[in-house]
Amino acid sequence: MASASLTGVVPDHVPAGRVVDFDIYNPVGIEEGFQESWTFFQRPEIPEIVWSPYNGGHWIATRGETIRHIFRDPAHFSNEVNLVPRVAGEKMATFPNRLDPPEHGPYRAALDKGLKLQSVRHMDEDIRAIARNLIAPIAPAGECHFTKAYAEVFPVHVFLTLADLPLADTAMLKDIAAQITRPEADSDAEAARLVDEASKAFHAYVNPVLDKRKGGDGTDILSRAINTPVNGEPITRDQALRMITLLLLGGLDTVVNFLGFLMNHLATNPDTVKALVAEPERIPRMVEEFFRRFPVVSIARSIAADVELDGVTMKKGDMIVLPTALHNLDPQANEDPLAVRFDRGSLSHSTFGEGPHRCAGLHLARLEVTVTLQEWLKKIPEFRLASDARPTHHSGLVASVDDVRLEW
Ligand code: HEM
Repeated sequence: MASASLTGVVPDHVPAGRVVDFDIYNPVGIEEGFQESWTFFQRPEIPEIVWSPYNGGHWIATRGETIRHIFRDPAHFSNEVNLVPRVAGEKMATFPNRLDPPEHGPYRAALDKGLKLQSVRHMDEDIRAIARNLIAPIAPAGECHFTKAYAEVFPVHVFLTLADLPLADTAMLKDIAAQITRPEADSDAEAARLVDEASKAFHAYVNPVLDKRKGGDGTDILSRAINTPVNGEPITRDQALRMITLLLLGGLDTVVNFLGFLMNHLATNPDTVKALVAEPERIPRMVEEFFRRFPVVSIARSIAADVELDGVTMKKGDMIVLPTALHNLDPQANEDPLAVRFDRGSLSHSTFGEGPHRCAGLHLARLEVTVTLQEWLKKIPEFRLASDARPTHHSGLVASVDDVRLEW
């Protein structure tokens, strides 16, 4: 039986010594920075597995090795529900990310076709053109609201380009995606209604395009989604729509906010900017250190069968959160983890997850960030935070930073 305390839910099978007063969506110490707030868990007395009573109550894996291990063990740690609170995760209408192996594999292979490294290499020029077109009007202005002027628009243009859809649809798509990921509602019921409404609007937009492209030989992501057979069968319309929703959402908030954290950091670290400007050809390598230093995703798993780890028994149906920050910023995984250092011999991170669900868009994400830095620094080689900008960090399934206003 679960008990509800002032601070939330603690079931009977959770030992009292494992309960921590930490809300992953409203972490103590976030004023010091989102990534910095996770240092709460990096005290020797904090075990590998703890319980947070917030957000419906859930376990948290606190060490890099434990997080990696759980990502790679889908038999015990299922993707059927992969965000907390569980009730919100159960409503996620995306596909095939909520399937476990072996069912997940063939659909994932279909998804990978358009996103594997070879396919992404061919996108370099298109993505560079998108970045250049956005930066061209920004550069002469001497200032910009980076998130609004660039970060929020860039991945939508990338999605539309990959889907062979007109860029004129950007504003509409941005609104739909925002309503799915951040419905502005006063109650859970209202939020569920808004998400449902936005999903239907997205389907109404994509459906006629799928009708036109079905049976064709297009290589855009919509044609691939509707025409790639899985297990010898055509994919259903509903699966294709939910797969396309996943492609839209997977590459949106993650890229927007990662770029926000990165530019906020660069605006206050001119020596790092100088290093990037001096050796633009090394940017792809340097980007990997940025991915390590600025993890944004805190994804979860649902316990599929009772399992013991670190001396506690997690029960079927419990949720466990795998904050990628607690891997990347674990001093056992990376020495001096809060420092950005380009001379690290090896990097250990799970910014893109691990195991069967490791980000399908990671090659695309790397390209998007590399191209952004290369093209931005060509036009704006020095920049700083606007004097009155007060960037504030927020936690979430995908963490965010607002008020990244820059000037040069
Ligand atoms: C900085 C950028 C990005 C970050 C940090 C990121 C992070 C992640 C993480 C942590 C996962 C694993 C989720 C899990 O374990 O359940 C994931 C999955 C996924 N990502 Fe990304 N992602 C990024 C960009 C993209 C882009 C650009 C796309 C574009 C298509 C994308 C598409 C996906 C898809 C389709 C999945 C689901 C894979 C599966 O369940 O098999 N992501 N991403």
